Amino acid sequence: MRGRHDPRGSRPPRRAPPASKGDGETLGVVGLGHVGLATAVAFARRGREVWGFEVDPERARGLQEGRPWFAEEGLPESLAQCLRSGRLHVTADRGELLSHAQVIFLCLTTPSRPDGSVDTRFLEEECGRLGTHLRDEPGVRTFVVKSTAPPGTAEQLAIRLEKASGRARGTIPVAVNPEFLAEGSLLKDALNPSRIVVGAEDPVVGARVLSAYRGFPGERVLLTSSEAALVKYASNALLALKISFANELAPLAERAGADVYRVLQVVGQDPRLGPHFLRAGPGFGGSCFTKDLRGLQAFARDRGLSLPLVAGALEVNARQARHVVDLLEGALGLLAGRTVALLGLAFKAGTDDVRDSRAYPILGELLKRGARVRLHDPVATENFRRELPTLIAHGGGDSVSFCGSLSEALSSSEAALLQADWPEYRDAPAELWQLLGARLVVDARRSVDEERLRAAGIRYRALGRDPSWESGPPGTRARVPGPRFRRKASNRTPRPSSPNP
Ligand SMILES: NC(=O)c1ccc[n+]([C@@H]2O[C@H](COP(=O)([O-])OP(=O)(O)OC[C@H]3O[C@@H](n4cnc5c(N)ncnc54)[C@H](O)[C@@H]3O)[C@@H](O)[C@H]2O)c1
Repeated sequence: MRGRHDPRGSRPPRRAPPASKGDGETLGVVGLGHVGLATAVAFARRGREVWGFEVDPERARGLQEGRPWFAEEGLPESLAQCLRSGRLHVTADRGELLSHAQVIFLCLTTPSRPDGSVDTRFLEEECGRLGTHLRDEPGVRTFVVKSTAPPGTAEQLAIRLEKASGRARGTIPVAVNPEFLAEGSLLKDALNPSRIVVGAEDPVVGARVLSAYRGFPGERVLLTSSEAALVKYASNALLALKISFANELAPLAERAGADVYRVLQVVGQDPRLGPHFLRAGPGFGGSCFTKDLRGLQAFARDRGLSLPLVAGALEVNARQARHVVDLLEGALGLLAGRTVALLGLAFKAGTDDVRDSRAYPILGELLKRGARVRLHDPVATENFRRELPTLIAHGGGDSVSFCGSLSEALSSSEAALLQADWPEYRDAPAELWQLLGARLVVDARRSVDEERLRAAGIRYRALGRDPSWESGPPGTRARVPGPRFRRKASNRTPRPSSPNP
């Protein structure tokens, strides 16, 4: 009987298999989180029939009712539409998934172990359970690792699946299909990938996985499974390097009569380099970059290699929180006993994901210097609060409070430190900023309209720019090349050319 091996959660009643509503093979997605849900919805929207399995019964119930368990613009509407069309089915019964789906995408988390190596335990345990259910299911099932995991993981999972299902070695096809989407634009990215990378030792298996992407744009790339796994790690490492390079230059620009944003915007006009991710900020956060860079380091270490560039990217990132708080202290004076608003708790705007958010180390640094901190975020407050007890245990308890509105945060603070560039902050009227006791805004994202603030008598201190430019950059516009830049060369900082984690 299917479902009896489910170690977690109740087993919902089995539904009769519906007539296929999509074209081609039916797809399965295991783990309906940021990657899994976006993938399942994107496949359904491109005409595939998809079964999604989520182990957390409460999350699964919410999804069946069209409610994602995390915030992402546009996703609830798309999910509801896919459920209504009958192309997407959500189940908490892995047997039900296996009875329908032939190509199954594994989208579980792959966290870091304390030594930085990648913990593939959730994938392994899940493949053990899926394998047990496979005993009841004749026919070929292809398993695709979409989670970010080191080379060799897919092959290990195949062994686990084969053992658990009692099938012979080499009879369960596996492939790797790394995902490049970004939170804040999950669905857009999942529907319009720049490239679809599949790694498989057997090209027939690779072609089967690629055929799931019929109707998607993006170049198709078929590699070995090790190459495909490395493509993902190398991509994230290079993106993180670009961010850390910008962040390494930021303090230099501040001491050199320059603005790192203007410098890097022109650097990025070189087509060999490109503008994307070449932007200084509070440092990279989110569920992937730090984890994946440490995972890559550990993978290299096991093979007797060190990766000094990757280590450097992590080091610069780790010290950036201190730099951001230095900037605030430089403008406001010693922070002991002062009250400041930390704005933006999500790791970036457009999501309620707080995993590895730079708001944590920035808050830690503020508390270390004796500041009282008012916290605000349009959507991520609850998630942030849940992760906070460790910090509070380290002495921040009385000094931290959450604010339900921007005006509450600003009216009770002397200065504001902007960590995530939510539109709510960008579009806030000048009168709101005037609530700040010391009328000081420190912008680590360069997202608010400084001209408007200055006109309202508010001091604006920008990350990566000479502090003496507080009243605006000196008259250098004529020397900046290029008509595009000249048009934008007001004091208003250009919008980012890509989402900045
Ligand atoms: N978040 C991103 O932007 C992103 C981008 C590219 C790649 N990735 C990679 O994708 C993988 C998944 O990341 P995520 O951010 O989607 O994680 P997530 O935490 O958002 O989602 C994981 C989901 O899997 C569920 N789950 C856990 N165990 C399960 C099981 N045994 N069976 C079914 N469901 C189970 C969880 O309840 C959750 O819903 C990771 O390897 C990550 O590195 C993430």
